[in-house]
Amino acid sequence: MTVIYYDADANPLALEGQSIAVIGYGNAGRAFAHNLRDSGHAPVIGNIEDMYSSFARDEGFEVVPIAEAAKAMIKLLLLPDEVMPEVYLNHISPALKQNDALVFASSYNVAFGFIEPPAFVDVMLIAPRASAVAMRERYLERTGTPSFLAVSQDATGAAWDRLLALAQAVGGLRSGAMELTFRQEAELDLFTQQTIIPAIHNLLFTAADVLIREGYPAEAALLDLYLSGELSKSLETAGEIGLVDSLKFLSPTAQYGVLSRLERFNEPKVRRQMEQALQEIREGKFAQEWASEYASGYVRLDAIRQRRRKSPLWEAEQQTLETFRGE
Ligand SMILES: NC(=O)c1ccc[n+]([C@@H]2O[C@H](COP(=O)([O-])OP(=O)(O)OC[C@H]3O[C@@H](n4cnc5c(N)ncnc54)[C@H](OP(=O)(O)O)[C@@H]3O)[C@@H](O)[C@H]2O)c1
Repeated sequence: MTVIYYDADANPLALEGQSIAVIGYGNAGRAFAHNLRDSGHAPVIGNIEDMYSSFARDEGFEVVPIAEAAKAMIKLLLLPDEVMPEVYLNHISPALKQNDALVFASSYNVAFGFIEPPAFVDVMLIAPRASAVAMRERYLERTGTPSFLAVSQDATGAAWDRLLALAQAVGGLRSGAMELTFRQEAELDLFTQQTIIPAIHNLLFTAADVLIREGYPAEAALLDLYLSGELSKSLETAGEIGLVDSLKFLSPTAQYGVLSRLERFNEPKVRRQMEQALQEIREGKFAQEWASEYASGYVRLDAIRQRRRKSPLWEAEQQTLETFRGE
């Protein structure tokens, strides 16, 4: 059964007297810390001494070394997935006490077994379905961010109460939060990243290539395809009112063109590739591959990025953006 939580389900008193640390002041850490503070909490920030710790201090937070912040009762771990196991092992795990809570914004490390918390702590997840920047903006607009919530260990018997109070404080319950398992959240997140985004990139690159080879100016092709922002606006509308209804904002010519040609692109091979991606994710193959990539110093990731940047389309993209930036 689907369980959805809203603000009315949370009791802020569930966090009374409990110290909170935000560990990692990157994109997510900053948004979580500000939202918590604006909701009346006083999170301490755990970060290495660098530019991000200076930002946090400039923005009025107390910043301490990660091992020091880990003494707080509630620890929000907002570090990149691949870095987190090492930091957890060296700085977080030695500080764990009975009744502490570990809170993740991505279930990746727990779901794939890279972090195995001891049985005496609560282990929880608040996974906003928006970028951290959007999460902060929506908190300020009071619209909230749809989120996934999960508890994988309830050592205190109060894990859900604590989680709901935290989720409310960061603006995660205002528009509704859905209960999932850690594993479901991790698999869904990876699936979307590894299917929809690469498929869209490939479609756009293929379409640009077709048009440029047929003699259309590269700038015009790229503008029409996606650089004008029309496509992203249409997807944004689909996110607000649904894919089907978003079409009603198109002209009748465009609507007929889209609907009469939909089936042409219903390609069975794409479905098989999606099923394969899901299988790799579920079997933990991707997680192992990514762990090896991190251990190698991101050799393959850097090489792919370089290759991508050398593509003629990348240059045309930058040039088009420059041309239409205005004066
Ligand atoms: N970004 C989002 O929109 C978003 C949304 C939802 C969930 N999340 C989740 O939030 C978590 C953090 O993501 P993020 O995007 O905020 O990452 P990020 O912007 O890259 O920030 C990561 C933080 O980790 C610190 N860090 C990096 N390497 C470190 C190391 N070796 N030792 C200690 N600290 C280190 C960084 O500090 P320095 O740079 O100062 O070293 C920074 O404060 C991830 O689990 C992610 O899945 C992110």
